[in-house]
Amino acid sequence: MTVLNWRARADSVAAGPDPFDIQAVRRHFMFLDCGRIVTNNAASTQPPRELLRLQASLAPEYENVHRGQSAASQLMTARFEQSYDTIAQFLGAPSRACIALYRNTTEAINSVMYSLLTEFRDGDNVVTTLMEHNSNYVPWYAMCREVLPRLGRRVDYRLARFDPRTGELDLEHLASLIDARTKLVCCTGASNFLGTRNPLAAVRALADASGYCQPSGEKRSYLLVDGAQLVPGSFVDVRALDVDYLAFSFHKLLAPFGVGVLYAKEHLLDASLPFLYGGDMIAEGRVFPWQVEYNALPWKYAAGTPNILGAIVSAQAVRILVDLALTPGRPVYFGTAKPLPRAAVRSAMERISSWNQQLTSRALDGLEAIGGITIYGPRDPARRTSLVAFNLAARDPVSVAEALNRAGVESRAGCHCATLAHHALGLNPPASCRLSFYLYNTPDDVDQAVAAVAAVTRRTHFRLLPAEYPRSRLRPR
Ligand code: ALA
Repeated sequence: MTVLNWRARADSVAAGPDPFDIQAVRRHFMFLDCGRIVTNNAASTQPPRELLRLQASLAPEYENVHRGQSAASQLMTARFEQSYDTIAQFLGAPSRACIALYRNTTEAINSVMYSLLTEFRDGDNVVTTLMEHNSNYVPWYAMCREVLPRLGRRVDYRLARFDPRTGELDLEHLASLIDARTKLVCCTGASNFLGTRNPLAAVRALADASGYCQPSGEKRSYLLVDGAQLVPGSFVDVRALDVDYLAFSFHKLLAPFGVGVLYAKEHLLDASLPFLYGGDMIAEGRVFPWQVEYNALPWKYAAGTPNILGAIVSAQAVRILVDLALTPGRPVYFGTAKPLPRAAVRSAMERISSWNQQLTSRALDGLEAIGGITIYGPRDPARRTSLVAFNLAARDPVSVAEALNRAGVESRAGCHCATLAHHALGLNPPASCRLSFYLYNTPDDVDQAVAAVAAVTRRTHFRLLPAEYPRSRLRPR
């Protein structure tokens, strides 16, 4: 398909009731200067140029936060604290008191494990699933197998199955694993391998019905959602979902600046032990040889000098994401501390989700037509996030990804840290090749990726691009 053709298609999409100005969106991204086909977005997305400029523009006024009386420190503190407000507004959280910032999703989930560690009673269990990223399995494995046994407590982890044919979570099996000793149910919002969007309302209902007695007096299991693949491309409202914990990372949401988020209900953060101990997480002046008092939320969970610029720029990523989806030629929220209305967030995220779904649908249609391909996860693009993992008969997925790279198409091969799910499908080696899309991808990107996969199956020496690729393409112009 020619460039002109996809533009015609994209325009026809844009002419519909839910316009998405892909041309205007793409103008914000520098990777296009290298001519890259960026289709490994489930691993990490690209930063718009505005965020890089913002980071540089903050440098002259850089100062520590909560640790200085200079005007620069006061200003930086205000910006840093506002970043918590923006993130809370993006998620529909009641306030910044529900937000803790870490380095990434993995660290955010580990923080929950360490905070809850002392609350698990002998005989309790934690239920997670076989479709989790290792970051939502290995911490629970380690807690149950390595940490708590040393403290003389036996706590089990249980793993809910998924249907190997459809890639859907087996809710009956999940229900059979949850009981009155299930303190916590952990579930990914969307699988980074199968793409499956999990039915979080149904999972919440199962966790609610467990009857587990929490220290707060609540009689239900807590629900922790790994939102790493869900949040960047979907409208997520933590109050509507009634999640107790939600983790995600900004490096999959336009902002590779080392910041991950934990949302948690305020009463849980209030009652739990901190994850990290030290500076700033203590109440000012309330440290004695016999007693230490903790700071108010959210700073109780912000020990040590934080990633200040990372937090500020990452929160602005949320604002530019909303702008890109709604008014890509005219920023409304980026660069400001204006409240982010729920309606704007919803509308923006629904547009992004719809665009991603069109790309995914096109990829599924194209890939399905390739002989010898096995595609994992639900066939219905509405049931998936914007990634497609597959294997080609008798082809090692890493060599497929390398061949795609030679054709100018970026992908990821391996187990994607979803090792349990690869084993559950009997894949040996436990690996697949994955293409993943984000709001700046075009139908032409998808078509080039599909054509490159088809060419790999034909074992041709396939080149979509000039013979000198990739060296010249990776040289910025
Ligand atoms: N978890 C990220 C991925 O799926 C890094 O690739």
